[in-house]
Amino acid sequence: MKILVTGGAGFIGSHTVVELAQAGHTPIILDNFSNSRPSILDGIKDILGYRPTLHTGDCTNPVFLTSVFEREHIDGIIHFAALKAVGESLEQPLRYYRNNIGSLVDLLDMALHHGVRAFVFSSSATVYGTPDMLPIPETAPRKPATSPYGNTKQIGEDILRDTTAMANGILRSSALRYFNPIGAHPSGLIGELPLGTPNNLVPYLMQTAAGKRTTLTVFGNDYPTPDGTGIRDFIHVVDLAQAHISTLESLFAAQESPETFTVYNVGTGKGTSVKELIGTFERVTGITIPYTVGSRRPGDIAACYADPQKIKKELKWEAKLSLAQALEDAWRWQQNSPKP
Ligand code: WQD
Repeated sequence: MKILVTGGAGFIGSHTVVELAQAGHTPIILDNFSNSRPSILDGIKDILGYRPTLHTGDCTNPVFLTSVFEREHIDGIIHFAALKAVGESLEQPLRYYRNNIGSLVDLLDMALHHGVRAFVFSSSATVYGTPDMLPIPETAPRKPATSPYGNTKQIGEDILRDTTAMANGILRSSALRYFNPIGAHPSGLIGELPLGTPNNLVPYLMQTAAGKRTTLTVFGNDYPTPDGTGIRDFIHVVDLAQAHISTLESLFAAQESPETFTVYNVGTGKGTSVKELIGTFERVTGITIPYTVGSRRPGDIAACYADPQKIKKELKWEAKLSLAQALEDAWRWQQNSPKP
């Protein structure tokens, strides 16, 4: 199948392009390089032995989208392209709504006009807010979003549900609620390229290990968790990428199903604390991480991890790679990755 991957040069997008190609599909990358670099395409080429088709442009530009859909016969879409900085979205809400919602609406319009059969949307565990239960099943209520970024994920899910309900069974869709994606391709040829100071734990830890940052700050050790630090469900990006292939293939296979929209958690089901993660990194690499304990980061919750039974039962997907493997792979990439 020919699969349009918007944001295909980004962190999760680039790994999904590789897995798609290795599963026998034809990925078509669409990216505006606003938060990614063209050099990632060299890494993809080194892994696959060829360079997938790239269309450079913006998903919020209908003229550009029309030209891509007229040139390619697209069977399915995986839509990663979006702005994703929570703090920035509070400062620039309209930019986030225009970009994340506008691009989704235009892409769905294209999908309906061009007979696209499957659409996979990047959602997030943020839709659960502070969860009432752990692990979190898909049936847990979505909580009012605390940022415009989070709201674009909730609204995005609703737009997808309503649009595919009226698509006469031709277009089917799934929203994947990611937990915390980390790691890099085991080849060391592609990985995350955070611009500026990283906000997320693993990129910050990698740069501290590499000596680019002096100290990692652990945001709070007074949470009601066994060691007092926050607990998250860290999932290897290659496992996460493979979840997209399983989802896409199930959408193609489900052409008779009355269900036109589904949501799945994509996590390991295992909670790991910030301290445990640092300890695992130190054990697998032999590098000691200098860290201090600071105050809690505003907006953070104590614990968040998935109940991944639905995707395991319905799509036969489950996370296979360990936290240790993810951290080893992220470290390999950190040492190889192009310097800004
Ligand atoms: C993990 C843990 C921090 C940095 C996730 C996604 C992210 C976003 C929102 C998705 C927390 C602690 C972190 C540091 C630390 N978008 N931490 N020191 O907040 O779970 O975010 O959801 O929709 O992309 O990953 O991830 O990696 O920022 O934090 O102690 O320097 O690490 O407090 O407990 P988070 P994270």
